[in-house]
Amino acid sequence: MGVVTTEEQWEVAALTPEEAAAELARLAETIAYHNKRYYAEDAPEVSDAEYDALMRRNQAIEAQFPELIRAESPSRQVGTAPSSGFRKVKHLRPMLSLENAFDDEDVRGFFSGVRNFIKELRDDATTAIEVVAEPKIDGLSISLLYEDGRFVRGATRGDGAVGEDVTENLRTIAVLPQTLKGKAPAVMEVRGEVYMEKAEFLAMNERRGERGEPVFANPRNAAAGSLRQLDVSITASRPLKLFCYALGEVSEAVAETHWDFLDRLRHWGFPVSPQSRLCATLEDALAFHHDIGGERALLPYDIDGVVYKINRFDWQARLGMVSRAPRWALAHKFPAEQATTVLNSIEISVGRTGVLTPWASLAPVNVGGVIVARATLHNEDEIRRKDFRDGDTVVIQRAGDVIPQVVSVVQDKRPADSVEFSMAAKLTPPGGDHPECPICHSLAIREEGQAAWRCTGGLVCPAQGVERLIHFGSRLAFDIDGFGEKNVAAFYADGLIRTPADIFRLRDHAEDIRKREGWGEISTRNLLEAIDRRRTIPLDRLIYSLGIRQVGEATAKLLARHYGSFERWQAAMLDAARDQEGDAWRDLTNISQIGESVAGDIIAFFREEHNRDALTDLVAQLETIENVAAPTQSASPLAGKTLVFTGTLEKLTRFEAKARAEGLGAKVASSVSAKTDYVVVGADAGSKAEKAKALGVATLSEDEFVEMTGAS
Ligand code: IVH
Repeated sequence: MGVVTTEEQWEVAALTPEEAAAELARLAETIAYHNKRYYAEDAPEVSDAEYDALMRRNQAIEAQFPELIRAESPSRQVGTAPSSGFRKVKHLRPMLSLENAFDDEDVRGFFSGVRNFIKELRDDATTAIEVVAEPKIDGLSISLLYEDGRFVRGATRGDGAVGEDVTENLRTIAVLPQTLKGKAPAVMEVRGEVYMEKAEFLAMNERRGERGEPVFANPRNAAAGSLRQLDVSITASRPLKLFCYALGEVSEAVAETHWDFLDRLRHWGFPVSPQSRLCATLEDALAFHHDIGGERALLPYDIDGVVYKINRFDWQARLGMVSRAPRWALAHKFPAEQATTVLNSIEISVGRTGVLTPWASLAPVNVGGVIVARATLHNEDEIRRKDFRDGDTVVIQRAGDVIPQVVSVVQDKRPADSVEFSMAAKLTPPGGDHPECPICHSLAIREEGQAAWRCTGGLVCPAQGVERLIHFGSRLAFDIDGFGEKNVAAFYADGLIRTPADIFRLRDHAEDIRKREGWGEISTRNLLEAIDRRRTIPLDRLIYSLGIRQVGEATAKLLARHYGSFERWQAAMLDAARDQEGDAWRDLTNISQIGESVAGDIIAFFREEHNRDALTDLVAQLETIENVAAPTQSASPLAGKTLVFTGTLEKLTRFEAKARAEGLGAKVASSVSAKTDYVVVGADAGSKAEKAKALGVATLSEDEFVEMTGAS
């Protein structure tokens, strides 16, 4: 497709009306073609600049000949093809992920965790824990909303809270029921997995290959790529299937057990895996895993493990969830798939915290259906322990979604001239006398007692700067559309952005961006608008975006919930950074799941002046920082309160009691002080109950506590 030059573009005055009409028709067709390549096929043929030039030419002609503007003109459709593509929808209940188990021991741990949580089970070791075991389908999870038995909306998982509206795409899946048989609840979210059968996947890839189209790496990618199509007719042409296996929001109870729920799903007309099995004991569950693992290759679709679900719904409700996974379910993965290939060379990359991470550049190899060309090597000690060297033949493996790993060397294939690996040697350039960061050439060091080598370049190291900014704009952080690796690196290289605050000042450089290679009017506007949409940000995302070591999504949420506002969090962190023995530090380390090590990293961040400055600068660019969405039960009188348990509880285990309180936004402390709001007094309570009385702290009986926290 030809590029329109600037000269051509403005030669509009010379056109006759006939020529103009013919050219508008040609442009409409060309632009529609490129829209399809870009939005529907994920395979653009022209740069944004070339695309914009076509659009401008179209506009210039229309400005000259307004009578030729047609309703379907490309100029009228700008903006109707949003860059993110799909409308966002909030799930009525969050879509959870699963805790993983890799061996039988992990599964036993899960069962004993459940037993220690539910008091009746702990007190009677003879009661077996019944679970439903289901194959873990390797596809993409979706949520289907039914109102009065009619399918009204379907969405991808997204970040678990908000997904993409793919209703029309889902309607093309033949086995998805549009209306349910028999009586159904007024509102019901059903969760399931969209997948593609292995044979259909291979046939589809073969057809794509013949037509010169890119092929998909595995059935899961093929299913995801096929469902997320703006042009629904493309989804309709793909062989997608569905299995349903879980419940989201529901307006009335539909079953007492998961097993009965699966049965109801079948009666309503949902496809449910015929492999699911009710297991009376742990041993039955493990036997199922073993059996289906053996039949795995014979199944028509990929499965990557077995999911166990506690059968009783009332127990599920009591077990609740931790972080983003339910305590009542577990994914028991199959062992990793392995392959042998050549380790071409050990390379070094620089992370956003300056850690120099070695990785293996491999001769590409197929491992269980995925082409692998690189694998992580963790650190120097690991490489030396396993003695990996350039040119070695190695065994690699991948387990589910986990990044491929190098397992071992095939010794008798080692080249005669191979040399032992050393980071210092690798990082020292030819003729140089000390190890350097491969990106900024600052001194690279390995501190006493640390496994990692680090670049000392800090703020001057572009790799660190770029990685930090990529993290800042990433999906779980500020989630800025169009702010991926490539653009961040290019803007950084040209000095347009150095710190997060600079991103919000890009508007001042709109002209510079527009003039860049590959950029134009539309792409610039889209980016600046995407940035503006993020001037309001929830506190947990803000915290996560800072890229503090060990502060991932879950920890950021804990912090946001605990401190409630940016000001309070910042003030407390500065306090804790000043006095690592004071109240603020103790309060921070008292948050359950935040230990001294995580707290230490947060404080280290606040001790750096440039970090404090960058944060102040950033916050000044934001319009509002919203607090995290409080837990739905936040109306509870326990929200934000501090509780202490004392004595023996009769109905709940301590685990369950603590989980219930925390689930409602309360904090559980171990000793009574004037700051305690409630003391829950069990049988044979001692000094803590007395202390509560002395301090005038309110007390609750176990029954009152159970009443206030009743599981839904
Ligand atoms: S239950 C709260 N059951 O595995 C429980 N998930 O690794 C939510 N998956 O996001 C999931 N087969 O996409 C469940 N039989 C099954 C499944 C299954 C596949 C997927 C699902 C989930 C992921 C977690």
